This record gives sequence, structure tokens and C-alpha cells, in this order.
Amino acid sequence: MKRRDLIKSGLISSLGLMAFSKAAAANELMCTPGLTPQQTKGPFYPVVDQIDTDADLVRLEGRSQIALGEVVIIQGHVTDQNCQPVQGVLVEIWQACTTGKYNHPSDPNTASIDPNFQYWGKAVTDSQGKYRFRTIIPGAYPADVGWIRPPHIHFKISRLGYKELITQMYFAGQDLNGQDLILQDLSDEEQKKVVVQLNTVTDQPHPVGDFNIQIRKLTKS
Ligand SMILES: [Fe+2]
Repeated sequence: MKRRDLIKSGLISSLGLMAFSKAAAANELMCTPGLTPQQTKGPFYPVVDQIDTDADLVRLEGRSQIALGEVVIIQGHVTDQNCQPVQGVLVEIWQACTTGKYNHPSDPNTASIDPNFQYWGKAVTDSQGKYRFRTIIPGAYPADVGWIRPPHIHFKISRLGYKELITQMYFAGQDLNGQDLILQDLSDEEQKKVVVQLNTVTDQPHPVGDFNIQIRKLTKS
């Protein structure tokens, strides 16, 4: 091979390596190896249909005021067990409002409901497997005698060809996390996957929590 060709091939290899490193770094950002753990669906999955179920839970269609509470962005990537982004995944979230009350007829909590909060939202992942919600940090609520559930958001992740995932996401730094029977039922490794840190991000008006989700792609038998 001529020197010129060697240089050319070396250059191409370097560029290839750079592209690979960039892709690997991006992949690392969106994927922590290991499936996201399943957790109970709980009793408050929405049963009353809503006109507005978009990815902005802070503003409810037809209302002039926004929801009460601390507004946050919850976003992340959905990948499969090989860390490949999954496009077209339906990501549903449902949660309590800032008082800890669900918009559900079976919720016995006497806390007041927030008429401006959209308790249930949906998003579909893009070509990078990314989803994004604007919501508020939910309130804690009593689940049983001596048991207060920490702020958490319920997630349902579904797409044809993948095992459906139902789980819950928690906020780092909440004292109630350490006593929650559902969160503490998970191993330390699993807990790390579902407890999310809120960060201040340049150009983002609200704290951002990155919740990456890994689901299992089903193989044809
Ligand atoms: Fe809940």
C-alpha cells in the first residue's frame, strides 16, 4: 500500500474511531445496562378518560391556570436489553397532584384535588428512544397505617414486540424513600435505576430528572 493510501486509511480509521467513541458516549448517556425493575401498578391507574393526555401535565386544556407544585421535567431514553434505542414506545405516566391526591374514584385520601393538574400523560419515543414530560413533584400520601408513600410517578411502557413494563420512579433525597415498602422491596442495584436526581440544566426553565428505561425485546420462538 502506498504511503498516501496508508495515511488515508489511518485518517479514515481515526475518524471511524471518533464516530464510534461519540456513539458509545451517547449510548452510555441513554442506557444503564440492566432491565428497569417491574413494580406494582397500584390501585390508581386512570379509569376516567381525559380529553387532555399530552406530555404536559402542568397545563390542562381549557384551564387558564397551571397546576400547583414544583414544576419539573422528567425525560429519558427507552432502550432494549442491548442498549438500542426503541422508537414508537408509548410511555404513560400517572401520579398524585401536589397534595398527594389522585384523580381516581377509589382514592380514599381526603386531600384536595387540583383542578388544573393533568393527572395522566402520554408520550411516544422518537427515533433516539427519547421521551419528555413536564409535570410537578407529586405529594406524599398515606398508603396504610404507619406507611406514607414518598413522592413517585407511575410508568407504563408498551410497544408491540417488547415485554410491557410497569414501574415507579422516585426522587432522590426524599426522606420517605428509605421507609417505603415498595421501593425497599427492590435490591440496591434496582433502586438506583428508579431513583432519579433532579438537576439544574442550562436553557431549561425547570429542574430536570433523567429516567432512562430499559425494556426487554421479545424474541420470536
Ligand atoms: Fe402511587
